[in-house]
Amino acid sequence: MRALVVGGTGMLGSDVVAELERRGHEVFAPPREELDLTRPDLMAHIPGETWGRFDWCFNCAAYTAVDKAEEDRDEAIRLNLLGPGYLASACSLGGVKLLHVSTDFVFDGDKSEPYEEDDPTHPLGVYGETKREGEREALAGNMNTLVVRTSWLYGPNGKSFPRTMIQAWLAGKNLRVVADQRGSPTYTGDLARTLLDLAEANPMPGIYHASGPEESTWYELAVKAITTYRSVHLRAEDLPEIEPIATEDWPTPTKRPMYSVLSNNKLTSLGIRPMRGLDEALEEFCRRLRLD
Ligand SMILES: NC(=O)c1ccc[n+]([C@@H]2O[C@H](COP(=O)([O-])OP(=O)(O)OC[C@H]3O[C@@H](n4cnc5c(N)ncnc54)[C@H](OP(=O)(O)O)[C@@H]3O)[C@@H](O)[C@H]2O)c1
Repeated sequence: MRALVVGGTGMLGSDVVAELERRGHEVFAPPREELDLTRPDLMAHIPGETWGRFDWCFNCAAYTAVDKAEEDRDEAIRLNLLGPGYLASACSLGGVKLLHVSTDFVFDGDKSEPYEEDDPTHPLGVYGETKREGEREALAGNMNTLVVRTSWLYGPNGKSFPRTMIQAWLAGKNLRVVADQRGSPTYTGDLARTLLDLAEANPMPGIYHASGPEESTWYELAVKAITTYRSVHLRAEDLPEIEPIATEDWPTPTKRPMYSVLSNNKLTSLGIRPMRGLDEALEEFCRRLRLD
């Protein structure tokens, strides 16, 4: 396939570019200056002659600063809501299929079993709200859109919770970590493979969930990430004492869903192979992680 990747410099986007290349696909990942999601004029290249014809567009770009979005609502709307709309229309004009990445934060976390694709959405903050509206724009603007919701991403090429925890431990900090929110940690290397498997399977347009196969709390994830990094890199530092705390003891500008595990049943029913377990994925993440 010939693929366009938007947000190819990001944590997920860089692994999507690498996976496309690994599978021998032709990839074009223009920098933001050439394809800015907030600039509809630049999208004119997508159906046009300049860049040639694409089969698929992978949108990995987003406004991802969850707390900052509360005070930066306009920019979050531009990037997460309007941008996917412009992109979907441009893709539609060019006959390009769109895979748009979304988030578990479209849900409020009131459930206690994994969220299915058709469960009602009810975001708790600006980030989730703009991402939900962006899903709608992406689906409405191009009849060949797959919206793929994922959760709790970590990868070597960006800021993530496991990286922050490992860095804090190496800096000798005391750690207090929320132990009553549950989600599915998802490694970007594995998600990139799943996104490509999905695009290559060419399923019906619509919403899909794709996340790591195991549930965890932030506390459990912190312990596992640090333990794995220590053993992979043969570090001599003692394991830290990590204090498990409640959500109310770690106030943030945006409320997070208490439970946002995504069900992967729809993917499995298509024959898409599940992602690796948390231990194996964290090991690869730690091997690839470069801390400077
Ligand atoms: N991170 C998570 O835990 C998480 C969880 C669930 C879902 N998701 C979703 O997964 C997707 C990828 O997230 P991520 O964490 O990999 O994102 P990220 O690392 O923050 O990367 C964002 C990307 O968007 C690009 N970008 C920013 N503004 C842009 C603009 N105006 N026009 C074009 N590109 C622009 C950035 O380019 P520059 O390099 O130029 O800044 C960067 O490549 C997003 O849709 C996000 O909502 C993330």
